[in-house]
Amino acid sequence: MRELGLINGRLISMDETVVSMEDRGHQFGDGVYEVTKVYNGRCFALRPHLDRLYQSLRAIRIPAIYTFEELVQFHEALIKESGITEGAIYLQITRGTAPRVHPFPEQVVPCLTMSIRPAGPINQEMREKGVKIILIPDERWLRCDIKSLNLLSNVLGKQQAKEAGCYEAVMVRGEYVTEGTSSNFFVVKDGVIWTHPATNLILKGITRSIILERLAKDLDLTILEKPFDISFVKGVSEAFLTGTSTEIMPVTSIDGKAVHDGTVGPITRKLQLAYTQLIDEECKRK
Ligand code: PDD
Repeated sequence: MRELGLINGRLISMDETVVSMEDRGHQFGDGVYEVTKVYNGRCFALRPHLDRLYQSLRAIRIPAIYTFEELVQFHEALIKESGITEGAIYLQITRGTAPRVHPFPEQVVPCLTMSIRPAGPINQEMREKGVKIILIPDERWLRCDIKSLNLLSNVLGKQQAKEAGCYEAVMVRGEYVTEGTSSNFFVVKDGVIWTHPATNLILKGITRSIILERLAKDLDLTILEKPFDISFVKGVSEAFLTGTSTEIMPVTSIDGKAVHDGTVGPITRKLQLAYTQLIDEECKRK
């Protein structure tokens, strides 16, 4: 088992230097990315991740030079050649390499890099007991729906959470609570699940969509895509985060105050269980 990289379709070792000084991802953050999880040697929810990748590419006008089938092949090759069965695959596409000028260069070929790393199961104690979060101002741009490489606000927010001894920072724009620095945010009030609508102000998470389109329906849960503010959050009975790496993570403390009685609520538990079952079904051996 070893970490492995890939550049423009060619497998490489992780310590090989491949990025040009003038790659536009490196200089401008001019590119997009995806992260998928590998369970039991198979990529979970790869199709929706790749669909979103194409949407992000379209949004910033980078031509798609790899087909869906090629990208699937690259993911499979990384899993096979690395021998990693439980891991995470990172993929990024930049606009390419050209002398540094702001507008799109005339002749530039997008650059695809990917890597696979082992990732153990999610921390069981956090999963069972929940995590603490802080609320911070959302200082990002207005196209948070694009999974762009520009993550400076997210990086600063996550560091702030870490320094506060918290798992995540959830952002607030104006009155409304948007999402975490690398996760979507949900609350439960009076038995109804609330999450910010998939506008330009949040990333439409794949895990979020799985909950909305599959798990909530299967479990007959009422779910609402509607903005809510900080005072609303103070009165919720449950809260949780979702994301590819985060899975479904209960939140039991917000800004130092317990959510309800500080234990993980029944709706979060049901969703966690259903999500694990879905992963088991989709990623079991053929
Ligand atoms: N982050 N919101 C933001 C800002 C994110 O960066 C992510 C994912 C999510 C959850 O999306 P999904 O369910 O598709 O993973 C929401 C990835 C994992 C990351 O940056 O590492």
